[in-house]
Amino acid sequence: MSIESKALRRIAPSATIAISAKARALKAAGRDVIALSAGEPDFDTPDNIKEAAIAAIRAGKTKYTDPDGMPELKAAICAKFARENGLTYTPAQVHVAPGGKPVIFNALMATLNPGDEVIIPAPYWVSYPDMVLLAGGEPVAVETTVETNFKLDPKALEAAITPRTRWLILNSPSNPTGGAYTRADLQAIADVLLRHPQVWVLTDDMYEHLVFDDFEFTTIAQVEPKLYDRTLTMNGVSKAYAMTGWRIGYAAGPVELIKAMGKMISQTTSNPSSISQWAAVEALNGTQDFIKPNAKLFQTRRDLVVSMLNQAAGIHCPTPEGAFYVYPSVAGLIGKTAPSGKVIETDEDFATELLESEGVAVVHGAAFGLSPYFRISYATSEAVLEDACGRIQRFCGNVK
Ligand SMILES: Cc1ncc(COP(=O)(O)O)c(C=O)c1O
Repeated sequence: MSIESKALRRIAPSATIAISAKARALKAAGRDVIALSAGEPDFDTPDNIKEAAIAAIRAGKTKYTDPDGMPELKAAICAKFARENGLTYTPAQVHVAPGGKPVIFNALMATLNPGDEVIIPAPYWVSYPDMVLLAGGEPVAVETTVETNFKLDPKALEAAITPRTRWLILNSPSNPTGGAYTRADLQAIADVLLRHPQVWVLTDDMYEHLVFDDFEFTTIAQVEPKLYDRTLTMNGVSKAYAMTGWRIGYAAGPVELIKAMGKMISQTTSNPSSISQWAAVEALNGTQDFIKPNAKLFQTRRDLVVSMLNQAAGIHCPTPEGAFYVYPSVAGLIGKTAPSGKVIETDEDFATELLESEGVAVVHGAAFGLSPYFRISYATSEAVLEDACGRIQRFCGNVK
């Protein structure tokens, strides 16, 4: 009998973490492996943020804080939402947790009853459906297409809504596609939601600052103020400030929801590290000077990767508006034979064969709920990306 609870048996381990672990193991065994599977910036946390953390340690700011975030950080988050998103929140409307992931989990755990449905546009970030399942809900994946740059079609949304729908999860710019919603896209989705007052919106804005070609980031509570009272606007410092290891995520929304999430965190993780919270205060209140140059750097990498992948036989790679991912199609390779002699039947076969024959680790589309695609994280140097894309071109050229 499995040691796992029924709740845990509803979910699978994170595919992206599993593939990164496999790539690390192959590397440790002496293989020449390039991992394009992990979703984290390759640069270091800026010095001003590190210094704020060191100063916090020296000043003895090493005690428990309020479970869902200390007042200084909540104030910095309110200021950030006002400054960058034109959204007014009070500290009582803010929840801070050890990363964006727990923020989402706390919201779902705090609100879902068995059978409640959560609409998730596919392809989706791997953790959404599993967190919904763990919280006792039912994920309802709504597929998108490459033609709309993987954005949710309002008609498909309307068709997926039932009386049991509790949440819609939006993620823009998206992990895994990099696709981002324009103001008009969000308005069209909001227009549908206004007809269905039982549906709340959880918008995951983690990649807000990584947008390219003058794309203007907007978030749904800003676009449609009538949804403010049923939107949880979630964000974090992990991606924008290269702080993945510090574990600070946050969200703002209606007081009643934030209270429920606070109850949840008070009996589980309690507060995120006080030192990380002080670092996050500096991230949000301090200089934002490096954000734009970083986005520019990612744009250069995106252009390189998109161009090189589109020169690989059988691959079609759309140009995303943001984040640091591309989500190319491998439809042109399905049914063909890899250099090992194995027929590529699925995108998972593609990823496995690519890793075996060229040592490039990517994540297959099935893990994100839409096939036949794969995801590349291009949060690494141009030299490494050129090498990796060159290997992918060679692999595709050898597929017959
Ligand atoms: C879309 C999205 N949301 C949330 C997270 C979680 O962020 P954190 O590392 O702060 O938990 C990630 C991280 O990969 C992500 O890609």
